[in-house]
Amino acid sequence: MAYQLLKGKKGIISGALDENSIAWKIAQRAHEEGATFTLTNAPIAMRMGEINKLAEACGAKIIGADATSIEDLENLYDESMEFLGGPVDFVLHSIGMSTNIRKGREYGDLNYDWFMKSLDVSALSFHKMMQVAQKKDAIAQGGSVVALSYIAAQRSFPDYTDMAQAKAMLESIARSYGYHYGKAKGVRVNTVSQSPTKTTAGTGISGFNAFYEYANSMSPLGNATADDCADYVISLFSDLTRKVTMQNLFHDGGFSSVGISADIVELMESKNA
Ligand SMILES: NC(=O)c1ccc[n+]([C@@H]2O[C@H](COP(=O)([O-])OP(=O)(O)OC[C@H]3O[C@@H](n4cnc5c(N)ncnc54)[C@H](O)[C@@H]3O)[C@@H](O)[C@H]2O)c1
Repeated sequence: MAYQLLKGKKGIISGALDENSIAWKIAQRAHEEGATFTLTNAPIAMRMGEINKLAEACGAKIIGADATSIEDLENLYDESMEFLGGPVDFVLHSIGMSTNIRKGREYGDLNYDWFMKSLDVSALSFHKMMQVAQKKDAIAQGGSVVALSYIAAQRSFPDYTDMAQAKAMLESIARSYGYHYGKAKGVRVNTVSQSPTKTTAGTGISGFNAFYEYANSMSPLGNATADDCADYVISLFSDLTRKVTMQNLFHDGGFSSVGISADIVELMESKNA
């Protein structure tokens, strides 16, 4: 159901790779809620061409940008402001990548160049997106910036390797920049810590299906889907959450607060029977 929560709002949405991407669902919901926006992704990801379908359906302009490049980000804001006719009201950071995970490197055998790349792409890029925006005054008074995180920032998940540190940094940047951007321009900055979700980035992690099922069995509401995440993020972009900032907001069906669930007890008992 649409409520016109973003009527008249302008934004930038990163990270829509294909229709499974969380950002893809957020773009669809933002469009339904009346927003106009630009879509951005790394030029290499855009070669797949999938994003064109989304742009067409949403009336969005696509602007390629490697989120680690200041020059690309400067161009992203310039072109977005030109297309949208002024500063934006919301920005979505939905970007993550670890070459160590892609290449199956274990935590005790990480390649440090790749580790630095993981931090740059998955965390520092969030700071860059805000610093470039602030210097250009490209986010309007009271705007909202959201990045997507994962609970491996707080708890250990063996196969998440260097992405755990990237997510911890991402959440820390939300707190620090939330202070500065809040003081300067009333801009809110939050991270949403999402359930395991079947996307290209998610399923690239070894053992993904096991921790997807585990999280689902632990959570009283079950895993939050990408569509659920889109609904939640829309509320954070809307005027209904004007005083929410500097938070890491768990969007995980309750997983983060559960010690053990009846489903898991049953499973363990059945193994011992
Ligand atoms: N899938 C999950 O289980 C899950 C759970 C919690 C959080 N998240 C987070 O959600 C976000 C979106 O991931 P997703 O699951 O939708 O997967 P996805 O693979 O669809 O999206 C990841 C995106 O990052 C983009 N990207 C990578 N390097 C980039 C760069 N240098 N510049 C610009 N863009 C770049 C990719 O092109 C892709 O569009 C990520 O931050 C991810 O860590 C995912």
